[in-house]
Amino acid sequence: MTVHTSGASAASSRTHIARRTVDSEHPTYWYKDAIIYQLHVRSFFDSSCDGIGDFKGLTQKLDHIVDLGVSAVWLLPFFPSPLRDDGYDISDYCGVNPDYGTLDDFRGFVEAAHAKGLRILVELVVNHTSDQHPWFQRARRAPKGSPERDFYVWSDTGHEYEDARIIFLDSETSNWAWDPVARAYYWHRFYSHQPDLNFDNPLVMREVKTILNFWLDLGVDGFRLDAVPYLVERENTTGENLDETHSVLKAIRAEIEARNPDCILLAEANQMPKDTIPYFGQGDECHMAFHFPLMPRLFMALAKEDGAPIAQVVEDTMRLPEPCQWALFLRNHDELTLEMVTEEEREDMWQFYATHRRLRINLGIRRRLASLVDGDRKRIELLNALLLSMPGTPVIYYGDEIGMSDNPFLGDRDGVRTPMQWSPDRNGGFSCAPSVSLYLPPVVDPLFGYEAVNVETQREIRSSLLNWMRWLIEVRNAHACFGRGDIRFIASGNSRLLAYTRCLPEEKVLCVVNLSETAQAANVDLSEHEGRVPVDLFGGCRFPPIGALPYQLTLPGRSFYWLRLSSQDEAPTVCEPCEGGGTKPELPDAQATRQTRAEARRQG
Ligand code: GLC
Repeated sequence: MTVHTSGASAASSRTHIARRTVDSEHPTYWYKDAIIYQLHVRSFFDSSCDGIGDFKGLTQKLDHIVDLGVSAVWLLPFFPSPLRDDGYDISDYCGVNPDYGTLDDFRGFVEAAHAKGLRILVELVVNHTSDQHPWFQRARRAPKGSPERDFYVWSDTGHEYEDARIIFLDSETSNWAWDPVARAYYWHRFYSHQPDLNFDNPLVMREVKTILNFWLDLGVDGFRLDAVPYLVERENTTGENLDETHSVLKAIRAEIEARNPDCILLAEANQMPKDTIPYFGQGDECHMAFHFPLMPRLFMALAKEDGAPIAQVVEDTMRLPEPCQWALFLRNHDELTLEMVTEEEREDMWQFYATHRRLRINLGIRRRLASLVDGDRKRIELLNALLLSMPGTPVIYYGDEIGMSDNPFLGDRDGVRTPMQWSPDRNGGFSCAPSVSLYLPPVVDPLFGYEAVNVETQREIRSSLLNWMRWLIEVRNAHACFGRGDIRFIASGNSRLLAYTRCLPEEKVLCVVNLSETAQAANVDLSEHEGRVPVDLFGGCRFPPIGALPYQLTLPGRSFYWLRLSSQDEAPTVCEPCEGGGTKPELPDAQATRQTRAEARRQG
């Protein structure tokens, strides 16, 4: 049974999430009700004034994450690394990069996060290591054919596996690189300084299990599995999604299941729908996988003002094994990838969202959410409303909750990894170091720079994006159907209006999204819900009851409704605040901050 509680304030919604999801039959499905916040320790908050974010700083800033109403944090790689791929080039799997702190700092962070009800997901990057990893240094010197050498994939000719595509098209010309020490070529699907591990060697799997157990013992609640489609290579295949790769994932799942059945695996498999779904296995591989097929279609739908691409891909991907769940996202630390759309669709996306070549990388777009839509608040809200109402668990990229932008002049994907903007103060309140020592410069442009876009200012402004996001999240958290319910699209006869229901036996919500810039109307067939009364989840306003005839809906440009389809008995007789909504949640300290500031000003 699922226990519902009301969502009265953001600060207390944490405990609400925990209580609401008490589910006696399936106690380990917590991730279905979660909202994940993705962040980089390096970018979040610098407590030591060296210009680089660290675990102590992140721990100090946990309340920002709690106040947002999310329930889990996914950390980008924080392990020792030469940082030639921002930490995805690992040189020690069981440590913390000294720039970010110590293992004890990590422990302290996990403890503090858990105490605040937040789960922690870390990265498992085992498709490849850094070429500085001791395993690679040992392998290149070890005799050919030895188990040490065979930690990696070698060739004398560099001509094997030619059907495998190159992923980092802007920087690599081959998946093989020559190693003068080994006097052989080694295989790499990403940068040439990231040699791929050889999963045909059982010793590699043994090491992976050691890594899993190391972090499980430190209390992590889940692993994001980086670049999983490419774990195994075979001749005459693309080297992606092979059965052998799925066997590796099943072994990883069995290992974590034995140690901590509550821990989850989240797959990064950027593939077509038919190749992504197998990462769930029969419920015995990954608990979650990023919904790469849906992400670009959300942006396409908005650009074309047509809901069809969304409905199509969701319908194609909604049947999953019971314990499994999609992880939904709009943006992340990488480019907005367009690998898995048609050439025509990619061209359209570039034309719409990245006209300048500098805004693109490989086959994607290196921009943040706010800058993709030119800072248009309505489109930011609409995309977030889609993100939080589609079937799956939403993942929010740090800074997108305040509408941070990017710096297209920085190399690789660094432009979307700039310091978190906390305040209008020096370095955006991220660090008190001299700006020359910052790991990357903060965004300073007049529209999106930290003086205009920052947490401190937005906490104080009731109508800010931050406060709006908190409201949206609070409403979602109060309605289990968003995380667990089924989805059904309803023909509206107007392709610009996307209408769908999210239903559990005990709760039905109708979502209507106007993708167009201008007002739209539609007659929606809701006869299945005849007699029910739509009630707005935000303000509690009662709409006219649903009858046998098509239901008329009108929406202003780029707006949306989330309407609970209440029975006549449940529906309020007048418009009044309802569970989990009704009033925009006020931050507990907003008023206090205003008073303190006024006081300070009075005292000169
Ligand atoms: C994943 C990461 C990306 C990284 C790549 C290679 O795709 O998300 O940032 O560059 O793996 O490690």
